Amino acid sequence: MTHRIPMLAAFLAGCTTPTKRDGTSALDDSDPATRDSGAPGTTEDDSGSPTWRQPNLTFPVEAVNLSTEAATLEVALTVDPTDFEIVDWRSRLVIPVIGHGYNGSYPAPTLRARVGDSIQVTASNNLSDPTTIHWHGLAVPFEMDGVPWMFDPIASGEEYTYTFTADKPGTYWYHPHFDTEAQVDRGLYGAFVVEDPDDPAVDRDLVLLLDDWREDQSLPVDADHVHGAHGAEGVWTVNGLVQPRFEVVAGERLRLRLINTSNQGYIWLSGGSTGLLVIGRDQGLLPEPEQVDRELMAPGDRVELLWMPGTDMPLPALLDIPYSLHGGEALGETVPLVDVELVGTAPSALADDWPSSPRAPTPDETSPAFVYTFQGSAHTGDWMINGERFPDVTVRQVPVDEPVVFEVRNLSATEHPFHLHGLHMELLSRNGVPPGQYADVDTVNLGLYETIRLRSTVHNPGTWMAHCHILPHGDGGMMTVLEVVE
Ligand code: C2O
Ligand code: CU
Ligand code: CU
Repeated sequence: MTHRIPMLAAFLAGCTTPTKRDGTSALDDSDPATRDSGAPGTTEDDSGSPTWRQPNLTFPVEAVNLSTEAATLEVALTVDPTDFEIVDWRSRLVIPVIGHGYNGSYPAPTLRARVGDSIQVTASNNLSDPTTIHWHGLAVPFEMDGVPWMFDPIASGEEYTYTFTADKPGTYWYHPHFDTEAQVDRGLYGAFVVEDPDDPAVDRDLVLLLDDWREDQSLPVDADHVHGAHGAEGVWTVNGLVQPRFEVVAGERLRLRLINTSNQGYIWLSGGSTGLLVIGRDQGLLPEPEQVDRELMAPGDRVELLWMPGTDMPLPALLDIPYSLHGGEALGETVPLVDVELVGTAPSALADDWPSSPRAPTPDETSPAFVYTFQGSAHTGDWMINGERFPDVTVRQVPVDEPVVFEVRNLSATEHPFHLHGLHMELLSRNGVPPGQYADVDTVNLGLYETIRLRSTVHNPGTWMAHCHILPHGDGGMMTVLEVVE
C-alpha cells in the first residue's frame, strides 16, 4: 500500500518562488478562487501579487439532510482526495496539503442531529486506499464503529452505510479508523453535534475544529517525528484558518464547541483575563458550569464554552499556552487562536442563566477489576499497553450492564490521552483525588506517571478498542481491546 505524503512547500513570499504540484508557480496563479478552496488567507490585488490579510473566522458547512422523515438524519459523504492550503498570513508561510476531505472539502461538513434521531450516513470511498468512519464518543453498535480489525474497511471505489441512533446529546466527531494517523493528519475529520432540545437557547451555536500543521508533516510517518512533539511546535488553525478574526456582538450568547482534532498536538486553552466558562466536555453538558483559567485539550478532547460578551467587560479570548506532553508548562509564546473583535451591540432576548444541577462524583472505593499500564518511549517508538502491542493483545472480557471500575496508569515520560470506543466512563480519581464534580468522558489525558480510575456502566456490547489518541502512538501499538459480552 502506498501513501501519499502531504508535501510541504513553506516559503516566504518574495524570497523564493513556491512550486505547486503541477509545476507552476503558486505566485503566478492569478485566479483568487484557488486560494479560496480551503483556507482563505490571502487575496490578490490587481497587480496579481498576494496581499496577506487576516481572514475572518468561518465555520464548517452543515451536511444536507437527504431525509424527509422526522427524526432522521440522512447524509451522503464522499471521501475524496482534496488539496488545500494552510496559510499563515502572519509569517507568510503556506503549507499546501495534498490531503483528503469529506465531500471534497476541508474542513468537512458538520453533522447536526437531535437526540434520538436515527442516523444514516453513506460513505463512498474515492481514495485509492481503504477508509472507514468512526464516530468518536458516540456509543454506536459495534458493526457501525468503523474499526477495520473485525470488519473490512471500505475499499477504494466502494461505499458503506452507517446506521445508528444518536442517543446522547453532546459534541462528538467523526474520522477514519484506517491508517488513522495519516488520514486524520491530512484533514479527514468533521464535527458531529447532537443537540438536546431542552438545552437553553443561544444566539449562535458554533463548531471550532482545532488542528495543528507542522513542517515535519512533509516527512514520512515514523516514530522519530513524534519525539518531543507538542502543540507549541505547530501552526494551529481554527476551521482551517490561522488566527482568524472572530467578530462578536456585545449582548449575544454564544455556545462554542471546540474539538482538538490534531493527531498529537495539545492545546492549553486560556480565556485571557475573562477566563473560560466551560459548560460541556466529551460527553455533553457538565452538571454545573465551571469557571476555569486554563483548560487542557489533549488530542480527541472536546470542550464547550459559553460566551456572553458585553460592552463594559474585557473581550473573551482563545489563547494557546505552550504545553509539553513531557509534562506541563513549556517554553514558547502564548498564541491567540482567534482575535476577537466587537462589532456592535444587540442585547440578547435570551436569559443569561445556565442550568446547574450539581452532581458529586461516585466515590472511588471499589478496587479496580483490571489495570491498563501505558508504557513506551519516544526513543524506541515502542508504545504498549500492559506490555502488549496491538493487534497482539489480550482481549479483556466484562459482562454487559455490570458496572466496572478499572485503572489506567502511565509509566512513561510522555502524556497519553486514553480513549475508549463504544462506551463512556466516569472519571473517579486522578492519583487518588476525585474530580470537583461528576465527569463523564470518552477521552481522558493521562499525565506523567499518573494513575487514573474510571468507572463504566458497559451498557453497549461489543469488542471495543481502547487506545492512546496521540495517533502515532495508537497506530504504533498503544491500543488494546475491551470486550463487553452479552
Ligand atoms: Cu477518535 Cu479510536 O478514535
Ligand atoms: Cu473513538
Ligand atoms: Cu500515547
